[in-house]
Amino acid sequence: MLQIDQYLQAQAARFEEELCEFLRIASISADPQHRPDMERAAAWLAEQFARLGFASEVIPTERHPLVFAQSPEVPGAPTVLVYGHYDVQPVEPLQMWLSPPFEPTRRDGNLYARGATDDKGQMLTHIKSAEAWLRVRGRLPVNLKYIIEGEEEVGSVSLEQYLESHADRLACDCVVISDGAQFAPGVPAITYGLRGIAYYELRLSGPNRDLHSGSFGGTVTNPANALVRILSALVDERGRVQLPGFYDDVIPLTPRERRQIAELPFDEQQYLAQVGVENSTGEEGYSLLERRWARPTYDINGLWSGYQGEGAKTVLPATAGAKFSFRLVPNQQPAKITAALKQRIAELCPPGVRWELLDLHGSPGVLIPLDSPYVEAAARAIERAFGRRPVYTREGGSIPVVGKFHQVLRCPVLLLGWGRDDDNTHSPNEKFSLEDFHRGIRASVWLWEEIACLQS
Ligand code: BES
Ligand code: ZN
Repeated sequence: MLQIDQYLQAQAARFEEELCEFLRIASISADPQHRPDMERAAAWLAEQFARLGFASEVIPTERHPLVFAQSPEVPGAPTVLVYGHYDVQPVEPLQMWLSPPFEPTRRDGNLYARGATDDKGQMLTHIKSAEAWLRVRGRLPVNLKYIIEGEEEVGSVSLEQYLESHADRLACDCVVISDGAQFAPGVPAITYGLRGIAYYELRLSGPNRDLHSGSFGGTVTNPANALVRILSALVDERGRVQLPGFYDDVIPLTPRERRQIAELPFDEQQYLAQVGVENSTGEEGYSLLERRWARPTYDINGLWSGYQGEGAKTVLPATAGAKFSFRLVPNQQPAKITAALKQRIAELCPPGVRWELLDLHGSPGVLIPLDSPYVEAAARAIERAFGRRPVYTREGGSIPVVGKFHQVLRCPVLLLGWGRDDDNTHSPNEKFSLEDFHRGIRASVWLWEEIACLQS
């Protein structure tokens, strides 16, 4: 096996260069102006697969293209479907970046760029591992399929549709995803749970134009006042979401799982210090990790209204709006949350203001059974690359399509995060440690072998 290790070492610099090339493409899915970049990123991936001799295809959708690829058949070997996303989050606030988001820059052993860890760098590990097998051994030990999308950060609508209509094409024995984090640097994790999400935009409108707040204040309802009242009424001081039936379907944590979570080597002070705050917040009665992984939450993601310029302007704004979302836990259904939310807003919205609620996207949370030989295979592969067994964790974030994979493909989904909590995903100065990139590639190399061994 030394040979593959030697190959990885010899090619390490080129792998980094290729990642940089990929990161220079500003594939921001939320922004229609970046449509051409989405096409370029998809084409870049298709070219990577073509170089490996894989059949690959860029599949147009109503929004951003999907990339599908398939290795030449290895008869009798299991089939693994690798999922990843080439889209990235918007980069604002731009002035906070120490180096431009689409000019990948090395500092202190890290590669800084938007998408470095989420998800271009992590995804690429599973392509480079295939390359290593092919170049050194001339063949792969498993059949590999790849489905890479450009809408993960905006709800995965096109992939979910594709999955429904092309389940046969994506059929596999297990799904592998690296789009998350280790539990701590050097402490690898296998993730068995993700939260879901229900994301909305609320638009309020009142008078037919902005008004003088002296002439009209106290007589005409102010949409900004109405907005903050509605938004703040959705959660109480104890961190409980105030929607009818919101907690009805929540699967409670079992005493056993609470014990296991409590046993993880988690440093709460470091977690808080890393983001520059002194105290944690959230629902009473649960530990920080429980709140982060296994309890539903409500967060305002953006809000706007009225005068935002220099100095004071006495204005009663005509409109106000907000984007906000609930993180959901397994068994909560986004559609039920939407219905409850509409009912609640109708009750809370004062007369004189009209409201419109846009349902931007939703996906349920997932729990993945750990009692599968594939999980064991992944644990062995990770141990070989990281030098220690993984811990089992949940994550607070969402990967919308994971629930659908589970449902439609009916096979285990392995969530193997190579990143770190301080990688600044969705924040300025996103990074991926080059050490994590290379050991992610090694873990992926051994993963194909460990999975192949399951059947022989
Ligand atoms: N990589 C993240 C998901 C993630 C976050 C996994 C934290 C583990 C820990 C993914 O790219 C992401 O950000 N997903 C979105 C999905 C949403 C837009 C539907 C998220 O969680 O906000
Ligand atoms: Zn993300």
